[in-house]
Formats: sequence, C-alpha cells, structure tokens
Amino acid sequence: MASVTLKDLTKEFKEVVAVNKLNLEIKDKEFLVLVGPSGCGKTTALRMIAGLEEATSGEILIGDRLVNDVSPKDRDIAMVFQNYALYPHMSVYDNMSFGLRLKRVPSGSPWPFNTRRAFSKQEIDRRVNEAAKLLGLENLLQRKPKQLSGGQRQRVALGRAIVREPKVFLMDEPLSNLDAKLRVQTRAELIKLHRRLGITTIYVTHDQVEAMTMGDRIAVMNHGVMQQCDTPLNLYNRPANMFVAGFIGSPAMNFIPVKVGQSGDSIIIDSGSFKVTLPENKAECVRSYIGKECIFGIRPEDIYDRNLEGLVKPTPGNTIKVGVDVVEPLGNDVEMYLTAGTFNLIAMIDSKTQARSGETIEVVLDMEKSHLFDKETEKALY
Ligand SMILES: Nc1ncnc2c1ncn2[C@@H]1O[C@H](COP(=O)(O)OP(=O)(O)O)[C@@H](O)[C@H]1O
Ligand SMILES: [Mg+2]
Repeated sequence: MASVTLKDLTKEFKEVVAVNKLNLEIKDKEFLVLVGPSGCGKTTALRMIAGLEEATSGEILIGDRLVNDVSPKDRDIAMVFQNYALYPHMSVYDNMSFGLRLKRVPSGSPWPFNTRRAFSKQEIDRRVNEAAKLLGLENLLQRKPKQLSGGQRQRVALGRAIVREPKVFLMDEPLSNLDAKLRVQTRAELIKLHRRLGITTIYVTHDQVEAMTMGDRIAVMNHGVMQQCDTPLNLYNRPANMFVAGFIGSPAMNFIPVKVGQSGDSIIIDSGSFKVTLPENKAECVRSYIGKECIFGIRPEDIYDRNLEGLVKPTPGNTIKVGVDVVEPLGNDVEMYLTAGTFNLIAMIDSKTQARSGETIEVVLDMEKSHLFDKETEKALY
C-alpha cells in the first residue's frame, strides 16, 4: 500500500499546458476522484503518474520514493482505461493472467537464461481465482470475451489490474462504455471492492455524480489547474470558486449578477429585479464589497415555494416574486424554470406545489446556503 504525492506536476505539449502545477497528496488506501470537463488534463495527469507520459516539471512520489525516472512496470501501479482491450481469442482466465505470465525478473544466470518467470503457475492460479471470486467471474473463466456482457468484460479488465496486486490503482473513466444502469451498478461494486482491497486509487471521471458518489475526496480540475480538493460534502457546501460551484451539483447552481448594498447593519444583495438580505453570520466577509458588483449563487434545491411548509421561515429578506415558466415533474420534486425580472432561475420544489406555468408565485431562498463570488476573481467570499 502507498500514498501518492504530486508536487507542482506539469505537462506541456508545445504551447498547450495540459497540467499546470498540480499539487496533491493522496493518502494510503484513499479513493481520490479527479474530476473536470473533457480536456482539462485528467488523463495526462494519470498517465504521468503511471509513467506513460514524462512530466515537463514537478515530482511524483509513490510512498516516499521519487518515481519520475522509474519505468512504468516498476512503479507498482495498475491502470484501467476507458477503452479496455481484451484479447478476443483468449479466455477470461488467460486475459486476466496474461501480464503475470509475461513478467520476467533477472535470474542471475548468463544469457539467454538471464531471466525467469516472475510468477509460478500456482501463484498465478491463486491470484486469478481470488480476483475472479471478488468480481463474480468464477464461472466465466473459460469463456471468450465475445461470450460476455459489457459489464462482465469490464470486470475482466478490472480483474487484470487486480491480479497484479499493485500498490496503486489508476482508473481513467473505466465505466464510460457501460450503459446508464450498469454504470450505477458497477460504480457500487467498485466502491465495495475498494473497501475490501484497501488499495490507494485515483479515479478519473468527467461525471460529477460519479465523483460525488465514489470519492473519499474529490479534486476538481479545469484547464489543467486544480480548483479545489475536498470531501464531496465540502465541495458541495463550500465551493471555493464559481467553477466548482457550477460544476458540482445538478441542476447547476443559479448565478445572478448583483450589487452589494447596506441597510442599517444588514447587507443587501440587489439584482435590480429583487433584493434579499444576507444572514448576519455572513455579513462580515462581505462588508468590504459594499457598493461593488458580485455574483450571487443559489442552488435549485435551496429555493422553496412560499405556500408550502418549508425548511426555511419566509421573511421579507429571503422571499422574492417570480414568474413560473415551465414545471417539470420528476417524482419527489418538480424542476421549475422561474423568471425573476430579467433573470432566469431553476428551482427544485417539493412536488406538493400547486404552482403552474404562467403564474406568479413567491419563493423563499435559503440564504444560509447562498453563495457570493467576487466578480473578477470568481472566488467565493464565504
Ligand atoms: N499527446 C498530446 N499531444 C498534444 N496535446 C495533447 C496530448 N495529449 C493531450 N493533449 C492536450 O492536453 C489537454 C488535456 O488532455 P487530457 O489530459 O486528455 O484531458 P482529459 O483527460 O481531462 O479529457 C487537451 O487540451 C489535449 O488536447
Ligand atoms: Mg481523458
């Protein structure tokens, strides 16, 4: 088992900075998710850790060992790719054991006998059978890949990585070729597997739901730069900037340009179309912004129908008038497209709501859960 430490890890492809000074400490046994939109540098970061791509600058440590110059096969890492290629003519058993059968170590004898097989037949058998049991593949070991379902094939690809008993797993969007239902199921299996094996894992995905459900911690990247690394709940509740705030959560957080004002001791957030009051505990961080423009953020699930018993008590400082554009029932909640003056808002409202499209209603904003961002730096003020 091992920790992985990245220090100012950077990769430049000519003028493209794919990964820009990435600093991360992945603890022993941790499941860290690297998430971000396509092209933000996730695969490049993973390939550098695996040794498949040379870092332009910075350091990679596995445990205490600097591995920048260590070859991929000596890094004690196993990588699972999005496009796992199984050998079509080989059985599941042979696909899983292939790497082990091929691996050779120095024997101490002169050439051509200077290497020997790294693993005995018994050892290979033990590892494949153990992995097969873990993955529910025991009865499929003699099948060929074409006789398997997509999910089973994906498990064989995982099995191939598991039999190597690596110190670190690197997974690059390993579920993206599966259909939605199977993806959810395999996601749960992977988490269970990680609990059982306790192998340090770095898991790459562009899917924020996958990130939120799987990660002990999540590192959010954009344009090669890490934006924030924290637990799923902290990312959701305390996003460091507008990018993270908008990326984590679905439907995404509403952003509205506002002006910060003052009324007595209270801080007023004024969009031009509506005014709300900041709770006292947030006022201090915002005081220096009085008179300035900011971006106000509120998540759809933190907006309540005034006419329903909600978690938040309506006050003049948190209640606004909105027009109802579209109402989309989703079961427990309805997704509502609202207009507040010139602004559009999305709200997730309890399905007991009587509001219909075309009406004007009052909604209550949970100001305790609101966010305010600096307009220039896009950094969160609280
Ligand atoms: N071999 C390469 N040569 C040139 N540019 C590359 C190469 N690999 C990746 N890039 C660029 O680096 C950036 C990050 O790519 P990548 O790490 O694949 O992103 P992600 O996995 O997050 O989608 C992209 O702009 C991509 O075009
Ligand atoms: Mg990628």
